[in-house]
Amino acid sequence: MKFFVDTAEIDAIAELNDLGMVDGVTTNPSLIKKSGRDIIEVTKEICDLVDGPVSAEVTATDADEMIAEGRKLVEIAENIAVKVPLTWDGLKACKALSDDGHMVNVTLCFSANQALLAAKAGATFISPFIGRLDDINLDGMDLIADIRTIYDNYGFDTQILAASIRTVNHVTQSALCGADVMTAPPGVIKSMVNHPLTDKGLDAFLADIKAAGIKIL
Ligand code: G3P
Repeated sequence: MKFFVDTAEIDAIAELNDLGMVDGVTTNPSLIKKSGRDIIEVTKEICDLVDGPVSAEVTATDADEMIAEGRKLVEIAENIAVKVPLTWDGLKACKALSDDGHMVNVTLCFSANQALLAAKAGATFISPFIGRLDDINLDGMDLIADIRTIYDNYGFDTQILAASIRTVNHVTQSALCGADVMTAPPGVIKSMVNHPLTDKGLDAFLADIKAAGIKIL
């Protein structure tokens, strides 16, 4: 499973990237706002840091404007994936940009039919939003599993990018359902290391190291 980091915070991306945990980055207008940075400037810095796809989202809602914005975004770096919303205009922009050879991430996906349309429009990535479905008492994982089945039934090569990942359990469940990629905030990725039995076991080892005076260096 590929790990994308869902943030526009350079330091957080760099820390995870140094550990080999970053296969790509996703941003959106809310994350750009949170960073307080200019979208072009911060996106360029992220692209310089990370080899994998970096999703940058358009601001327009009209297809022609989305295409124009997408063409400007892809000039930032070769690893830009243009992020478009799952609307009819977004699908038109997806088709045009993917026909031009650009990576496209179709975002704000909440149904299997939407994912089917995005694949047919040539999306590189489809982003089903897990947490936001859970927020309204639906099961985001059912959506991942349905999209996996449909894409496999017909051999679509659009990658399922599990998004709106809020918990470490979302990561495990997305992996079990066969998502190709998951994107999560840095805090969620770092929390994956935590286990109380690891802490407890290490405490016991440390006590014995101290008691026995064990030294290696
Ligand atoms: O990847 C999409 C993500 O940024 C949205 O997450 O937590 O705002 O639903 P959230």
